[in-house]
Amino acid sequence: MSIAIREVGPGIGGEVTGIDLRQPLSGEEAAAIHAGMDRHAVLVFRDQPLTDEQHQAFSRALGPLEEAIAVALRKPEEHRLPTSFADVSNLDQDDRPFARDDRRRLFSLGNRLWHSDSSFKPVPAKYSILRALSIPSKGGDTEFADMRQAYDALDAETRAEIEDLVCEHSQIYSRRQIGFFEFTEAERALMRPVRQRLVRVHPATGRKSLYLSAHAGGIIGWPQPEAMAFLRDLMEHATQRRFVYAHRWQVGDLVIWDNRQTMHRGRPFPAEEKRDVRRTTLVGDGPTVEQVA
Ligand code: OGA
Ligand code: MN
Repeated sequence: MSIAIREVGPGIGGEVTGIDLRQPLSGEEAAAIHAGMDRHAVLVFRDQPLTDEQHQAFSRALGPLEEAIAVALRKPEEHRLPTSFADVSNLDQDDRPFARDDRRRLFSLGNRLWHSDSSFKPVPAKYSILRALSIPSKGGDTEFADMRQAYDALDAETRAEIEDLVCEHSQIYSRRQIGFFEFTEAERALMRPVRQRLVRVHPATGRKSLYLSAHAGGIIGWPQPEAMAFLRDLMEHATQRRFVYAHRWQVGDLVIWDNRQTMHRGRPFPAEEKRDVRRTTLVGDGPTVEQVA
């Protein structure tokens, strides 16, 4: 078997065949996956029935892991998965779907907004690696938008205007957008805003991309309403259908995306049905801009 990649979206998204992710990754295979990621930004692997251990081993073969998000509003005894996973499911520790008004569910609905994973951390994420164990009868797609094409499609004046802009990102800002305001002091302390450049350069390809995320809640030096209106316009531009690959999940799928050059969002599904998806995350190379103390 040798790896082949077929384009599945509009310049974003590739489907990979000819690899069994349960087996240790060869250096050649790892190189092919990284090259595929640089080109397609999202890679889909079908029929990969991995265990959690195999999922972790595969992830580590691609780079160092990020520890799970400090704030997912799950208490330690409520964790279903090891802390090296982000539990993106709608399930409690007994594998039952959260009640519709469960605070943990409402917080996780922030994933329905276009975002880039861990943009609220000083060193944001590189790849996210998400695997599906059960999926609902309808809905629940994940959509991916190409921030390279979105950047390229901006007019020259806008490109010049945003070149050196820096945004503040926090999970407080993404949740505020869906009317989730209540956080304890301890949660707020964990969600203090961090700074991110609005334009990034990909270290492997040299391509520029728009670094947008629902977590962005302001632009340094700009009045707040003007910043939010401007970011909203950029979001609308960047998420046009011509830049989007929509992934329809099957059990056994594993999808990798590059958070440095894409945004993604989850789509709605029936609240009473199980959707078990689990994510490992590779840590990025460094901050996009200097932080302030
Ligand atoms: C994620 C995420 C969306 C989804 O795993 O980071 O945002 O469709 N997922 O589950
Ligand atoms: Mn996400």
